[in-house]
Amino acid sequence: MNYQQIIERIHQEVLLHKNYGEVADYIPELAGIDDDQFGVCLAHVDGKIYRTGDWQTHFSLQSIVKVLLLSLAYARLGGQLWQRVGVEPSGTPFNSLGTLEHDDGIPRNPFSNAGALVVSDVLLDLYQDPKAALLDLIHSFSGDEGIQFDRNVAESEKAEGYRNVALVNFLKSLGNIHNDVDDVLALYFDCCSVAINCEQLAKTFLFFANNGQTIDDHHRLLNRSQTKRINAIMLTCGFYDEAGDFAYQVGLPGKSGVGGGIVAVLPKEFSIAVWSPRLNEKGNSYRGLKFLEQFTTETGQSIF
Ligand code: DON
Repeated sequence: MNYQQIIERIHQEVLLHKNYGEVADYIPELAGIDDDQFGVCLAHVDGKIYRTGDWQTHFSLQSIVKVLLLSLAYARLGGQLWQRVGVEPSGTPFNSLGTLEHDDGIPRNPFSNAGALVVSDVLLDLYQDPKAALLDLIHSFSGDEGIQFDRNVAESEKAEGYRNVALVNFLKSLGNIHNDVDDVLALYFDCCSVAINCEQLAKTFLFFANNGQTIDDHHRLLNRSQTKRINAIMLTCGFYDEAGDFAYQVGLPGKSGVGGGIVAVLPKEFSIAVWSPRLNEKGNSYRGLKFLEQFTTETGQSIF
């Protein structure tokens, strides 16, 4: 498969079409971005890397980090984690409060904001310094020690993240947050702010395509079975109320973020990161989705 030629061609074709959607301006720091940027990187388990477009530009991970937070918690706690958060698709927007009261404060899955706040709370109990644990993971799996939190993005969200403030307090009132709500929010916002580019993101997520271990130094966070399970949660819950659509159109486990990034995984083959800041009404990158749909349709490289 000539991945370089394929990603360049599809990238060009997507660029020819009108760009749609809005940037996530509910986080003020994200509002001013050049919203026509569009980057792609595919990292293959054979060690080859393919890149095109604005793959070097940094953007914030946002909800993509929820997969790494979940992995850190699951690696330490195993199945006990599911007492605090479920693994069912919610069919609701990422920031919904809707089902929490009915579900006694147990979020439906770890990729909703509610679920990620509970996972952040769990991490505060499991790790002495969860932020450092996250950065260590990203540094070692991407092979790049330079990746950092973006203070401006984190502060911007801390100043206006009213939904998450409501969610964490609601969860606390229902007994599913054990730490101080401000500590949970600070951890969550900081983690969402990690600044990364497409290559660093594809490399970081390659272990999900390689049974839980890195391809070069065989560093392992999750065992094979745990990796299977997290890939399954990405497939069923990675795109909120668009998860079914993503499975239908793209057919890969994946995760999006309102920074405009999407990362997807084909087990035993590759991870692919795409980034373009304009989001559809469900909060997922418009061009990123277009690219991935065309890529898996033309190459047949999906799990189905
Ligand atoms: O909590 C928030 O609203 C953001 N920090 C992350 C949301 C997000 O990325 C949703 N994904 N598409």
